[in-house]
Amino acid sequence: MTSIRPAEPADMAPVADLWHEGWHDGHAGHVPDGLTAARTLAAFHERTPPRVGDTVVAVAGDGTLLGFVMVVGDEVEQVFVSRAARGTGVAADLLAEACARVAAAGHDAAWLAVVAGNARARRFYEKHGWTDEGDLPYEVTAGGETYVSPCRRYVRAL
Ligand SMILES: CC(C)(COP(=O)(O)OP(=O)(O)OC[C@H]1O[C@@H](n2cnc3c(N)ncnc32)[C@H](O)[C@@H]1OP(=O)(O)O)[C@@H](O)C(=O)NCCC(=O)NCCS
Repeated sequence: MTSIRPAEPADMAPVADLWHEGWHDGHAGHVPDGLTAARTLAAFHERTPPRVGDTVVAVAGDGTLLGFVMVVGDEVEQVFVSRAARGTGVAADLLAEACARVAAAGHDAAWLAVVAGNARARRFYEKHGWTDEGDLPYEVTAGGETYVSPCRRYVRAL
């Protein structure tokens, strides 16, 4: 049985591995090449542990990490599930938990940025009631450089 719960420090190394894999699945070819090159496994292991307080994980009964979300204020910052967990409904459960957290913090809407070329993620958000509000050039700093990631802004009323 899958459990959805706040992350603990010991979760964050598996979160970094999953984030690295999923980031390249969803972004490579759709963002500047320099940004893709900077998104190494080591870089994810550096940036992930400090995010434990923002993170909710989905974990299988045997302890395997299936996915995670990160929420900051009214932004759903990350929604990632493992390759094996895609199409299983785990991502929907994580997204619902993320929205519940945004609502519990007193916001009446949540937003997120999704890379324009990430067709699977866009379809996923749209089928769960999120609305495409248009272009959002998203500034990202990685490896000491700043890149503009061509994103769309999606919003959902809570
Ligand atoms: C984005 C993600 C969380 C969605 O979870 P998921 O379990 O894969 O989502 P679902 O399978 O429920 O929904 C995906 C939908 O996109 C469709 N789809 C799959 N590939 C597609 C493609 N190349 N183009 C368009 N739609 C596509 C699926 O058929 C499905 O739609 P349907 O239910 O109408 O058939 C997951 O795919 C993931 O972790 N991807 C890698 C990381 C990532 O991109 N995260 C988002 C960052 S903003």
